[in-house]
Formats: sequence, structure tokens, C-alpha cells
Amino acid sequence: MKTACNKQPQSTTDLWKYLQTNRFVQEVKELSETDSTNRVAKEMAVCGAPEGTLVVAKRQSKGKGRLGRSFFSPEGGIYMSMVLRPQIVAERALLITTCGAVAVARAIEKVSGCTTGIKWVNDIFVNGRKVCGILAESGLSGASEYPDYVVLGIGINVKKQSVPEELKAIVGCLENTAQRPILNEELIAAVWEEFADLYRNLSTAVYMKEYKERSILMGREVTVLAAEGEYRAVVTDIDKDGHLMIERDGRVESLSSGEVSVRL
Ligand code: BTN
Repeated sequence: MKTACNKQPQSTTDLWKYLQTNRFVQEVKELSETDSTNRVAKEMAVCGAPEGTLVVAKRQSKGKGRLGRSFFSPEGGIYMSMVLRPQIVAERALLITTCGAVAVARAIEKVSGCTTGIKWVNDIFVNGRKVCGILAESGLSGASEYPDYVVLGIGINVKKQSVPEELKAIVGCLENTAQRPILNEELIAAVWEEFADLYRNLSTAVYMKEYKERSILMGREVTVLAAEGEYRAVVTDIDKDGHLMIERDGRVESLSSGEVSVRL
């Protein structure tokens, strides 16, 4: 079924109260349940939704993760996707994910008091557990050197949930560590307030310094899961475009995608 592209009449929901003065959010589509907010936001972007259009759902039945994985999305978490129209060439698209990661890390710290770390490229960790995943998906028209749109999807585990067995050792939630009760609406608004400042500097990516400082991989020995198989390497740097620099058998290589695991 098609999603209507016209502006939803802005209501007096709790979320809208937090977002109406937000510097980045222009329109909000609130859903109690959907398959994936990224899917809905992409459909709206194709229909011409402007930058600043936000889709938020209370739960997702088919939340998408990176590398074709699913993202467990029960009620109590934050599932949201933002329509962006960045003037950035496709090769620098990682900057959107890194920009989102810094915004989420800052917002979580402000709202919950938890200390966060970023695991390249798209995960936010608290207390050794993943509490947030980020998935940026681009639509390319071919008519321009820039993407037609980018949808930035963010999933944050806020409330305690019964987690499937296979995720128990990896996934955490903010409620376990937070120094105060967390209001999802307040955290959503805080993410996009932080994002507003960072996104203005997307092409110069001045925030990469902070991304590196927050990175839990710098200087660490990691396992890289590549198409050709697994190998061990040491993380030496993250470059200005968000690529992970690793040293492997005395040679420095740059990774732009893929999965890296580290013993925490
Ligand atoms: C990952 O950890 O691999 C990325 C997870 C991204 C999940 C978010 S939840 C909101 C948005 N909608 C989706 O279907 N995925 C993203």
C-alpha cells in the first residue's frame, strides 16, 4: 500500500510537543506500528518529501539492519527515519552515518547521563552493550552527482525488553544504565537538535574528531569479517571520510564497509 506524501496535520501528540520547535525536524509522521520506518521514509522521499521529514514508529515488524540483517524492534524502543537531501557525492556517504552516530551519542549522554562509545561505523555502545544501530540508505537518480535522497534510520533500545537468546550477549538498553528516567520523546528531540549542528558541517566533517574520540575501536585489535573471510588487524585511525584505517601484516588498509568485531 502506498504511503500518502502530503503533510500530516500536525497534532498535539507528546512527540510533536517536543519537536515543534526543533531546528531540524520539519514534519513528523507517527505510526504505532510499521514494517520499517526506513521503508516508509524512502517511499515518502521518492514522492518528494522535503529534508527534515521524520517517520517514527512505536515498533517495527521488519526492522532492517546493516548487511541484510534484521533489527529487533519491540515496543519501548525508538525507531525513526529521517529524509535527507544532502549535497554530498556517493563516495562520501559514510559521513551521514558518522554524523548520525555523533548526534545520537551526544543526545543519549544529555538525556540519560550514560557514557557512550561508538563502534565503527554505526553502533552506539553503553556499558559494553549495543544500544543503538544506524542504517543510512540512499536513492540515486543518476541525473546528479548527489543522491536524490538519503534516509537515515536510527533504532535505540530504551526500555528493558525480553531479547531473543542470540542477542542477549550483545544487546543492551539505556534503562539499565541511565541515571534518570528516559522519556523517548525527549531523546528523539535531542538527537535531531544535535544533528542540526553537525549536519550543517557535513562536507567539512569537523565532527570526525569527536567521532574518533568516541570510537571504542581506536588502537584495538579487531576481527574483520570480509567477503574473503575473517582476519585479524589493528585499528590505526578513522579518516576524514569515516573510513576505518587498519594495519594488517604490516600494511595499512582502508575499510569503507563491512563488519568489525572486537572483544569488549
Ligand atoms: C544496524 O544495527 O545494523 C542498523 C539498525 C538500524 C535500525 C533502524 S530502526 C529505524 C530504521 N528502520 C529500520 O528498518 N531500520 C532503521
